[in-house]
Amino acid sequence: MSADSFIALVERFPEHLSEAKLLGAGVKVQGVDKVVVAGIGGSAISGDLLKVYCSEKAPGLHVHVSRGYDVPAFADSRTLVLAISYSGNTEETLSAVKAAMRKGAKIVAITSGGKLMQQAEQLNKQVVAVPDGIQPRAAIPYLFLPLLNVLHNAGLIPDPSAEVSAAITSLKAAAANYKDRARSLAEKLVGKVPLIYSSDRMAGVAYRWKCEFNENAKVHAFSHAFPELNHNELVGYTKLNANYYAIVLEDEADSRRIRERMRLTREIIGNKGIPSTQIVIKGEHLLTRILSAVHIGDLTSVYLAKLTGVDPEPVTIIEDFKKQLGKVPFV
Ligand code: F6R
Repeated sequence: MSADSFIALVERFPEHLSEAKLLGAGVKVQGVDKVVVAGIGGSAISGDLLKVYCSEKAPGLHVHVSRGYDVPAFADSRTLVLAISYSGNTEETLSAVKAAMRKGAKIVAITSGGKLMQQAEQLNKQVVAVPDGIQPRAAIPYLFLPLLNVLHNAGLIPDPSAEVSAAITSLKAAAANYKDRARSLAEKLVGKVPLIYSSDRMAGVAYRWKCEFNENAKVHAFSHAFPELNHNELVGYTKLNANYYAIVLEDEADSRRIRERMRLTREIIGNKGIPSTQIVIKGEHLLTRILSAVHIGDLTSVYLAKLTGVDPEPVTIIEDFKKQLGKVPFV
């Protein structure tokens, strides 16, 4: 895929959400009271977004994102393990499925194919099959929306369908505005190290921005959350060791105190010569705010790639790493 085609694909995020709306709606799981999302990289981030969503929609629900070879010790027969690997061939996730089996957890696989699809079919597990042929991180609509449908069917969250439709309508209406904002932010980020800050509640969204800068623009980027960052990261502005640019994601539902921290932090780091941009995330529903913030971040990262002459799509270094590791026997 050419760089421009990949950018066009990222721009079609709202359309992909429409296509993904009903994915997972046929999956039925009963008798679960906690959730583990097992995955890594561009597949795991959907779990982080789910955590943000559930913090408001199902505050008592334990949602754990497990990025590794295992599942947490608490996993048991009342745990729903959502194993997500876009390619279906990621060793950590395949191993986590085996661990979940040993624990007797209820497993649902979300994948475009590969070994995970085979493993799930052999084990007679329910599978959400997503369209193949794109980068895992660009498949986020197809990986995230099924989580909502599966959790709703399991009786763990209220029906999300009205909010999903409202989010899609809102993102489509704001498409031109988001592109403009992302382009102008990308221009400011050329040659900079992006530092993405949000409230603790929205940390999953800030982490998505970080990963998109890494994988699309091929630059280092870091994310952190308020209030914690005021107790450590802030000190790093005393002796600057790189050309930073801070991006503060302010959700309109963030508390007044958190917003005051954001304002003061920007003032302090501005006095140290660090430029920053505040992105105020607006929308009637949390889901709209999560998805619009993700979309603006994704767009910013691909526009930054374009401005710096980088092809945003391939992640050759990750593929090479996987190949080299694959030569070492996995025991
Ligand atoms: C590539 C990407 C990576 C992959 C990760 C795991 O676009 O985002 O972070 O998601 O290497 O691979 P999958 O998602 O296939 O399990």
